[in-house]
Formats: sequence, structure tokens, C-alpha cells
Amino acid sequence: MCGIVGYIGGRSALQVLVDGLRRLEYRGYDSAGVAYANGGAIGIHKTRGRIDDLQNILPNPMPEAKAGLGHTRWATHGAPSDRNAHPHSTGGIAVVHNGIIENYQQLKSRLIAEGHEFASDTDTEVIPQLISGYMRQGMPFEAAMRRAILELKGSYALGIMSVWSPGKVFAVRNGSPLVVGFGQGEYFFASDIPAFLPYTKKFSFMEDGQIFILSAGEAMLEYLDSDAGPGKGPAQTVPKIVEIGWTAEMAEKEGYDYFMLKEIYEQPKTVMETMREWLDNPLDMLPAMGITTRMILGLRRLHIAACGTSYHAALVGKYAVEGLAHIPVEVEIASEFRYKNLLIEKNSLFVSITQSGETADTLAAQREAAKKGAYTLTICNVVGSTASREADSVLYTRAGPEIGVASTKAFTAQIAALCLLAVALGVRRGRLIADEAETITAQLKKMPLLLEKALASGPRVKDIAATLDDARSMLYLGRGINYPIALEGALKLKEISYVHAEGYPAGEMKHGPIALIDKRMPVVVVIPMGSLFEKTLSNIEEVKARGARVIAVTDEPASLHGKADETISVPSTHPVLSPFVNVIPLQMLAFHAGVLRGNDVDKPRNLAKSVTVE
Ligand code: AGP
Repeated sequence: MCGIVGYIGGRSALQVLVDGLRRLEYRGYDSAGVAYANGGAIGIHKTRGRIDDLQNILPNPMPEAKAGLGHTRWATHGAPSDRNAHPHSTGGIAVVHNGIIENYQQLKSRLIAEGHEFASDTDTEVIPQLISGYMRQGMPFEAAMRRAILELKGSYALGIMSVWSPGKVFAVRNGSPLVVGFGQGEYFFASDIPAFLPYTKKFSFMEDGQIFILSAGEAMLEYLDSDAGPGKGPAQTVPKIVEIGWTAEMAEKEGYDYFMLKEIYEQPKTVMETMREWLDNPLDMLPAMGITTRMILGLRRLHIAACGTSYHAALVGKYAVEGLAHIPVEVEIASEFRYKNLLIEKNSLFVSITQSGETADTLAAQREAAKKGAYTLTICNVVGSTASREADSVLYTRAGPEIGVASTKAFTAQIAALCLLAVALGVRRGRLIADEAETITAQLKKMPLLLEKALASGPRVKDIAATLDDARSMLYLGRGINYPIALEGALKLKEISYVHAEGYPAGEMKHGPIALIDKRMPVVVVIPMGSLFEKTLSNIEEVKARGARVIAVTDEPASLHGKADETISVPSTHPVLSPFVNVIPLQMLAFHAGVLRGNDVDKPRNLAKSVTVE
């Protein structure tokens, strides 16, 4: 959604804040701003547009401030504009916010009735106004701040500073992610780790209801609604500090023009990083995740909930677990799962899949499942994220920071984790014989090589992308475990090129979508050799007969000669593992189509990397 940053210490605060915002720009980029301690006042600069636009309005040279806040916005309430950009301030109080204040209308009406004048259409502005209102009633700033925050309903990660508490900045977390970086006598806070990786690897992941009071050389952590006893104020708590294994370079482009392209080409490495720990004995992952043999043998159903690309990974996982372990798997879109009448058997296994570990709907689904008594496992890419801290156990993907808004390397890392889990469950339940398990793990060990071969289709894919500019829409078809790949390919194209696309089960195309087919609707067909090849080939002929252009992704190009208009070759592998290689050309097709259309493929319009609000 949005990205917030804060700093206090000996460096030039404005430079640190702008650098941090640049590394968070994937979280939102319709407006940006900074607030900084400027002598006895608070300086604020903010503008509609990107971080570059913010940089252009800053004083040059930058004021020598040692404390400040920053914000890059993905608009929820109030259109992108200078006035709606954060920070929002009044009465010497400045606030930046990620999240949604659900009771802001009621608070705003009350404050207006009390004579407050608002300068924006945002929900955020009620925060400084509410604090200022309590100060008008005689409360000192910090008490007014706490009182105001406890009135807020909804999700918020806040950065607050005030002329009434000079030499301090405040970080508050409730429902939206916020991490605090520990430097030498300096402190950073941000919505996401990459913002300040160049400065520190020591981070504390804040919990809901916590406030960090940060001054140069001191970090105090408290629970907002706690009380240490009469006249003692809030109870302090000791921050848990985690050393992050990521390097700053991992969060940089390292010579690529786009993060998305870098992350597509990182997949041979990131898939192996995710599997390395378990490849020699996938069974070890089960006890490591607290999944006991008794649980597995008693397991009647596996529930998975996720959003977007992670949902497509979940669908691949369904095919893998049902195929290898013969356990029924129910996959749900998290925003549907959380509001339905959940029929979850007690002691069932619930899996959330989330790259960020902060997706609001996925977190809510995980919490609902836990309430129903399910054992919760999250497959997550961010150490210390909310999902990883709240689940009963975590299976980390090791894809490193994924900066491109369109998820690519996280997807293949997720299906790597799911395939290993399927093998482990299958062997443990006596459904997967050792030889078959060995065949699959042997192929997984070769996967980096197979992915390299799939990536070699890049130039061909780029040429094909260049011929799609008159496509008014595209259809992606796949069968079986590659139906989710058709869905994922369509999603990638939509979110990167802004061309409408739809993923469909190839066998279902005759039940409606075939009416759409004409020469301006190219059809991408994922057609690996195997038990469904002939059926899928029939679908290609049906599409061709109606004048569409067919682009086939296959490990058997010779068999498609004269059938498909274009073939993109990928290497052969075990049928359960074919999604790994088949998704690569579809990621690259979306990337090149987006670039050819002049889109910012790392920061597509209207999107944000992590949807931390409902
Ligand atoms: C995928 O390219 C999108 N960026 C989006 O669908 C994403 O997969 C979804 O928002 C889920 O995010 P998560 O994995 O961080 O929960």
C-alpha cells in the first residue's frame, strides 16, 4: 500500500529518508513527502508524483536535519495530489501513515464541529488533528498522542514527530507492517526491510499495539494500552532484534534495467536456495515445521488460502499434494475464505501462502483458520513478517527481497516449497514410493539448470511480444497442473502491459470463451508432453479453426509444427514440476509486452507490492 520511513541520528535525515523512500517506492508511488526537524519548527515538503519529483522540490543544499519522516503513497482516501500527499500536519505535529483509519469520518466530523480545519481529503489527517485537539484540552503532547491513537480503528503504521517532543520520533504499529532498524546511536523505521538495508541488518519487527519512542541513542518500546502502575506510565518491553541475512545489493538492480527482469533471471538461484535445506531429505521439513506423523496420518484435508500470484502457486500446490500425497486440498482466494462459513475440521492443516507476509486478506484468513482450531503453516518470503510471526509454523521461501510489484521469483520459490511439501507428505502417508520421490527430487536438483534453459527462450519471447501490439485481449489455456500457469501468465500480462487477458482450463474453452476467438485475440497455450498433450492439441486446433493466432509453450515443439503459429521451447521435466519451466516464458512475455508499451514494469499503475489493507 504505502511506504513510510523515519530516521533519527547523526546523519543528514533528509538524504536518509529520500534514499529509504526510493527503496520502498514499489509500495506506492502516486505522491511523496518528507517532514524534518527544522530548528524549533517542522519542515514539510510533499508533492504528487514519484520520489524524483519530491527530490526536485527539496531545498538544495538540503537542510541539516537529524530527524524526520517520509512517505510514498498508494492512494486509498483522497485522490493523488499535493494536498493529499503525506506527511499531514497541524499545530507542530506531523504524521505519515500506511493503512486505513476506518472511523475517520466520525472523528473528522467531531473535530470539524470542534473547530478544526482540514487541509486534505485523507483519513490520515484526523491523526494530527486529534492529537492537537487533546493538547488544546491541556494534555501534554505524548499523552495526547497516545490518547488519540487509542481512538483510531483500522490498520495503521504511523511515523509521528512534533515540535512539542524535540529530539524524538515515534513509530506506531497496528495492523500494517513496521520494522525498526538499529544503527550505532541512530534508529530507522520503515514499512519494509529494504528501505534501510544499506545502513543496518539489525531489525525489530513491531507488533500490533506497540509504540517505539526513538531519540538519538535511545529506543524505548512500549504497548500503547499498557500501564506500568500508578503514575509510572506505559509498561516498557524489550525489543526482539533479528539479524537479517539480506544484503543491500539484493535490494538493488545490479545492472538490470528493471527489478522484474533481475528477479526473473534470479530464479535458478532462488529456487535452489528455497529447496537446499530439504532436498536431500524432504521428510525432515515436516518435524521442522511441527507437523507430526500423527497429524499427517489423521489429515483429512489441507486448506490453502492466498491472493494473486500466491493463489496461483496454491493451485499448483493442490495438484502436487493431491497427486503425490492423495490428500484432498481446498484452495481459496483469501478474501473469499475469510468471509465464508468456514468448514474446517479441527486439527486440520491450514496453509497461507504470502510473499510479503503482510497481505491483509491472507492474514485474516490465517487468523480465522487458527480460531477454528486448524494448525497454521505459512509459506512466506519475509523473515519476521506478520504471517510468519502469527502462524504455528513457517516454511520460508528463500527468494530474497522481491522488489518488482509483479511477483515472479517468489512464485517459483513458492511452488518449490509446495512440491517438496507434497513429496514429504506423500512419503510420510505411504502414498509416494521411494523411487518416485527420488525421481522427483532428482529433477528438483536439476531445476536450476532447467530454469536456465527456459530462460534461454528470452530473445524469442521478446520477438513474439513485439508482434502483440494490436491484441485487444489474450487467452491463456492450460490443463491440469498447468491450468494455474495459464492463470498466472494472464495475471502477469494484465498487471504489466495493461492488456486484458484471461486464464482458462483448456478443456473449458468450448463452454463460452471460444466465442471470443478471432484474429485479434492471440491464444497462449501451455502444452507439455504428457497425458493431456493430445487433448490440449485438440484445443489448439479448435482455436486455429476460428482464426486465432496460437503461441504454444511446450517441451515438444516438433509435435506442434504446422499446428501452433509460434512455439516457445522449454525443457522437459517430471509432469508435477512442469509449472516451473512453463511459467518462465509467460513471465518474460508480460515483461517485454510491458516494456514495449512504455510501462514502468516495476511499478505498474494502480498496483502496490503488498496489499496491506482489505
Ligand atoms: C502478483 O504479481 C501481484 N503483485 C499480487 O497478485 C500478489 O501476488 C498478491 O498481492 C499477494 O501478495 P503476497 O504474496 O505478498 O501475499
